[in-house]
Amino acid sequence: MTPTIDLLKSHRSIRKFTDREVDDATLEAIIAAAQCAATSHFVQAYTVIRVKDQEKREAIAQLAGPQIWVARAPVFLVFCADFYRLETVCRMQDIVMEKGWAEQFVTATVDTALLAQNVLLAAESLGMGGVFIGGIRNDPQTVCDLLAIPDQVYPVFGMCLGWPAHDPPPKPRLPVEAVLFTDRYPQQHETDMLEAYDRTTNHYFLNRNSNLKDETWSHQMADFMGRVIRPHMKVFLEKKGFFLK
Ligand SMILES: Cc1cc2nc3c(=O)[nH]c(=O)nc-3n(C[C@H](O)[C@H](O)[C@H](O)COP(=O)(O)O)c2cc1C
Repeated sequence: MTPTIDLLKSHRSIRKFTDREVDDATLEAIIAAAQCAATSHFVQAYTVIRVKDQEKREAIAQLAGPQIWVARAPVFLVFCADFYRLETVCRMQDIVMEKGWAEQFVTATVDTALLAQNVLLAAESLGMGGVFIGGIRNDPQTVCDLLAIPDQVYPVFGMCLGWPAHDPPPKPRLPVEAVLFTDRYPQQHETDMLEAYDRTTNHYFLNRNSNLKDETWSHQMADFMGRVIRPHMKVFLEKKGFFLK
């Protein structure tokens, strides 16, 4: 429909990269474009840390899985939801900042995610590729220690970026009819549609160009949703000053 829509539809996570460097000017241009994302109340409640130090990279790659692409990608970014800058601003204005509200947590996390998706999209528009790394939340305190991340800031996810050294096909998404409704939430989700999507994803998993498996979306999701993932997050966020009330 448009080059932008074509670009969006061509997205696939990239986990293998060529040796080609990403220079600072390119990264800065990507971040500057990404900062144009909408931001709740104009708060811009995010900070991005580029991790260049190889020892820190290796440590984060280990705690995130291990995920070797974290150590090897030309660029590795940590996206932080950030109220520390806003606390400074409040101090400049002689105002005591309200802290720890769940609503503030949502605001900063959403802002950070919008920025990050724009970063990936801007990079993809230049022919680069990348992947989000939620795995850093396996041990978010160590990430904070490694990167000197203070209270009122938390690492939401990382991102690898660089020039692709593989060409995976895009993963088919749920049909639009499964996610778009008019005027009210559906009374129930149509299992026929989900079963049809399972056939689509099974075909994708059996025929993609690597890591072939006889898998379906429902099976993957039921396995994922039936497990407790990162139970430390509530205590960690409370310790960092988020999500207290
Ligand atoms: C917030 C977030 C965290 C993610 N964390 C990881 C991760 O730690 N490691 C990884 O290899 N992929 C990670 N991914 C990538 C997803 O697995 C991927 O986007 C999803 O399977 C869909 O595939 P696609 O991006 O190729 O379309 C993450 C994606 C998001 C949005």
